[in-house]
Amino acid sequence: MNLSLNLIMWYWTLLWYIELLCVIVAGWTIFCWLCTGYYYLRTILSTNSLKKYGKGSWAVVTGCTEGIGLGFARVLAKYNFNIVLISRNPQKLEKVREEITRLHGVEAKVVVCDFSECTKEPLEFFQKIDEEIRDLDVSILINNVGYAGTGRFHTHHIHDELLQMLSVNLWPCVYLTKMFLRRMMNRSLPSGIINLSSTATLRPLPGFAIYGATRGFTNTFTLCTREEVRYTVRHEKLNEIDMMSLQPAWVYSNLTKEQDHNFSFITPEQCAENALSALGKVPYTNGNWKHIIVAILFKNSPSFMINGQSLKNANYTQERRKT
Ligand SMILES: NC(=O)c1ccc[n+]([C@@H]2O[C@H](COP(=O)([O-])OP(=O)(O)OC[C@H]3O[C@@H](n4cnc5c(N)ncnc54)[C@H](OP(=O)(O)O)[C@@H]3O)[C@@H](O)[C@H]2O)c1
Repeated sequence: MNLSLNLIMWYWTLLWYIELLCVIVAGWTIFCWLCTGYYYLRTILSTNSLKKYGKGSWAVVTGCTEGIGLGFARVLAKYNFNIVLISRNPQKLEKVREEITRLHGVEAKVVVCDFSECTKEPLEFFQKIDEEIRDLDVSILINNVGYAGTGRFHTHHIHDELLQMLSVNLWPCVYLTKMFLRRMMNRSLPSGIINLSSTATLRPLPGFAIYGATRGFTNTFTLCTREEVRYTVRHEKLNEIDMMSLQPAWVYSNLTKEQDHNFSFITPEQCAENALSALGKVPYTNGNWKHIIVAILFKNSPSFMINGQSLKNANYTQERRKT
């Protein structure tokens, strides 16, 4: 009689602990969803607070003659930031400089450099850029430059394309962030840094292995550095730097011109506006509401729905680039 009573007691106690565990796990999951939802809402509902970075200060944009970089240059000039335009083609750079100074009455400085060369003598390479802009009060840095090669890793990428993706997508972001962090901390006003990642980092995307991995690097690098910076500025009583990883989906640009356009495509200017509104509010964002929907669907779809299509997309892009 006693034994069966004891067994029943044990059984109920075990059941109680299992229930408690389920409640904790469910609570934690709901908490995580709420946090993510909060980031999404803050992204969608916020308006930009660019004024805090300082009137008359400068914004540096890399890869700014086309696509998202050009979108950022235009939007930042519209908000009265002077712009440092960094890209590789002098004629295109001059055209952008002429356009934004004429339309928005701001100053613009052109720095010509080909980031695919930056791995040869990195210190010298970035020193040269530094010399050109050292005296400017830079309050915003947009590490945008990037290139997306596609295709299966073991069959497609040739050495030049690999090198281009690794050097252009990784090195400028790391070296330019390093160049500006301490300087920004010592400004008398807050500053902001946006590093371009991509929704391609949200799950493995066959056909985009190197591209996805480089954008994943940017994301992790940004989020880690952001925490270090927050800790440093709090403890050394320095000025805040808003760092944010931007993970857009499809944006009309040279990079995506081979893709069939779908509902989620947005213009580079929309992408820049949304990102600048979220800057200082969230550590990472997809930006536009359409891209938030894409990100949620993309992250939570079963692999069989994504993988085949992704490979097809990569091959299709390759074929169209060849012709
Ligand atoms: N488009 C999208 O849907 C999308 C989505 C997610 C993330 N992203 C990210 O957003 C960033 C910009 O993409 P995008 O679509 O705007 O690209 P894009 O249209 O190809 O523009 C790239 C810009 O970078 C410049 N550039 C390219 N290689 C360079 C080099 N070696 N040295 C200096 N400048 C160079 C280009 O200059 P030239 O005019 O001389 O070529 C151009 O101004 C990338 O980091 C990409 O990974 C894009």
